[in-house]
Amino acid sequence: MDPITCITNRRSIRAFQDKPVSQDLLREIIATACWSPSYKNSQPWQVLVVSGEKKEGLSQMMVDLLDNGTPPEPDLPAPESWPEAEQARIDYLMAKRRELTGMDLTDPSVVARAKKANFCFYGAPHAIYLYQDSSLSSWSLFDLGLFAQSLMLAAHAKGLGTVPQGFVTDYSQAIKKYLDISEHNRLVLGLSVGYPDMTAPANGYRTERSPMEEIVSFVE
Ligand SMILES: Cc1cc2nc3c(=O)[nH]c(=O)nc-3n(C[C@H](O)[C@H](O)[C@H](O)COP(=O)(O)O)c2cc1C
Repeated sequence: MDPITCITNRRSIRAFQDKPVSQDLLREIIATACWSPSYKNSQPWQVLVVSGEKKEGLSQMMVDLLDNGTPPEPDLPAPESWPEAEQARIDYLMAKRRELTGMDLTDPSVVARAKKANFCFYGAPHAIYLYQDSSLSSWSLFDLGLFAQSLMLAAHAKGLGTVPQGFVTDYSQAIKKYLDISEHNRLVLGLSVGYPDMTAPANGYRTERSPMEEIVSFVE
């Protein structure tokens, strides 16, 4: 797959085939992502692949915490508000989802259901957590974002599907304890990984992008 097609065809995958990915292939996509650039080549990324019973136990733990009403405590707090342009794009996505699925994501019971689907990694056979030392600067968060995109593109090029998930860091303290990740790290992102089920309605919607004119200027 050529890189331009890989970038423009990737999409978040939220339904997976019941088929594990070999450890060799998982290692290959992670090794590819390690070629991402980083500030002074500091490579501020740590990766944990969670599969099998450990993943099932993690999903159950997050579902139980939600059902118990435990307040989320992600290491990277969710934004409380957005500037106008970004908020308008979010509103557009929510309206589109409501139109296609009938699900109203302002309804707390719908949000709880959506969170549980996230916590179960949308049925994917593997979860990948990205984390780093909490003392690292914002530049290292930026670097980890580059790593995440490389990982998703490498996976896509190999026929795998992924979805980046902020939600699966909601209970960061409990998750780090369960996964034996030292407390001085921040959990930045989780991803579901597996072979996509492209017949599933959950994978039917392709998000759009705002016209490029909204974001680019040229000066000479
Ligand atoms: C940092 C980050 C966090 C995200 N968190 C979630 C999440 O918790 N659950 C989810 O289903 N999708 C999540 N997404 C996926 C976005 O909704 C998705 O990337 C966006 O709608 C664009 O769609 P696309 O990835 O199909 O191009 C997240 C994406 C990013 C980059």
